[in-house]
Amino acid sequence: MRFIIETYGCQMNVADSELVSSILISAGHSPVTDIDDAQVIIFNTCSVRDHAEQRVLGRIANEKHRKSSNPEIKIGVIGCMAQRMGKRLIEIEPGIDFVVGVDQYQHLPHILEDAESCAEDALQMDKTQVYPNVMPFRQDKNCGFVTVMRGCNNFCSYCIVPYVRGRERSRPVNDIYEEAKSASEAGLHDITLLGQNVNSYQFDGYRFPDLLRKLNNIESLWRLRFVTSHPKDLSDELISVMAECSKVCEHIHLPLQAGDDQLLKKMNRSYGVDHYLGLIDKLRAAIPGIAITTDLMVGFPSETEAQFENTLRVMEAIRFDYAFCFKYSEREGTAAASYEDQVPEEVRLRRLQAMICLQRKITLEKFRGQIGKTVAVYVENFSRRSDDMVSGKTRDFKIAVLSGGADKIGGLSKAKVIDATAGTLICE
Ligand code: 5AD
Ligand code: SF4
Repeated sequence: MRFIIETYGCQMNVADSELVSSILISAGHSPVTDIDDAQVIIFNTCSVRDHAEQRVLGRIANEKHRKSSNPEIKIGVIGCMAQRMGKRLIEIEPGIDFVVGVDQYQHLPHILEDAESCAEDALQMDKTQVYPNVMPFRQDKNCGFVTVMRGCNNFCSYCIVPYVRGRERSRPVNDIYEEAKSASEAGLHDITLLGQNVNSYQFDGYRFPDLLRKLNNIESLWRLRFVTSHPKDLSDELISVMAECSKVCEHIHLPLQAGDDQLLKKMNRSYGVDHYLGLIDKLRAAIPGIAITTDLMVGFPSETEAQFENTLRVMEAIRFDYAFCFKYSEREGTAAASYEDQVPEEVRLRRLQAMICLQRKITLEKFRGQIGKTVAVYVENFSRRSDDMVSGKTRDFKIAVLSGGADKIGGLSKAKVIDATAGTLICE
């Protein structure tokens, strides 16, 4: 059958969609890029915020009309929302034919043949599942993800992830090495290692810094990145390995969430602001020019105006290169959903706008601060703006555009930054 996967949410879902594509292709199905050609439409969903869930339900409602003109068309839901809601999803949206949880993708080929098959198994969680022997099917041939671990043990009080993705488990170090080696030999020179909390990777005595050291030796690999790090687990050893390994890029994504100790405690983050500031100092001392990006949240239950302002002050002190700013969304079953003092929606919205505004200003200053510098751009594609421009990324995870054509794609270009917006370096 011809299938298409529409992916929502984080990079783990992007990587999982590549895994699912590979499983389906191995069973004889074929991927298409135009939904009009698809006989199976799969939504890979996110449950982190309510908004993401509502968007997918809206998309499914929009696409189910296809089934009346062609009853053979099947619609499936996979990913975190499938895991969280299970069969309830089919009650809410009868246009859905099958629902498969995050640990059961190997059953998808049977389920496509018969949506009723293994209906129960399809939602089982499997605490050992790491999808061994599945080489992801990657659309992007230049940059991509290699999953190193699945699940999360942290139970931040607002977060649904540990409930839907289960406990942490690491992939065997040799599987990761072989995948990174063969993918980079095939042209994937910029690899991002993925896990909900990569710093707690461990397999047979190998910890995350050991894994970075090992992968750093792959000749065809040019750039190595990783997401996401948890501030409580970012070790001095990891910082020195980042500094010492030439392939490991000068960038870290280190979610702060809030710049207030009391809030961080209620969020169950296991660190305080001082610890976080200490990490930033160490990172900047060890890795000159390192870009630091983060996740921040406003409107966590009981957040006062003063606490929110503490977060703004910390943002000003650190000056992140970029921050993903989120409005707290209550998630059924998490600890924070039962906290009193939920912050009114209009307050959450106002704080979010103020936060985004501050970060935009800092990001613009950071990007403009690059003007005049020479950067190495790994060119990934044509620029969206013009056919005689190409775009790619710097080592410190900034998008850069420069003049050039197809011959530049897939290679490294040295370029001088001549201008910048709050998201793009314009180079020459
Ligand atoms: N509401 C809003 N944002 C959330 N995140 C996780 N859970 C929630 C929630 N309930 C954010 C955190 C996390 C990022 C991936 O999503 O900032 O780091
Ligand atoms: Fe969620 Fe916290 Fe785990 Fe990240 S570390 S996935 S925010 S519980």
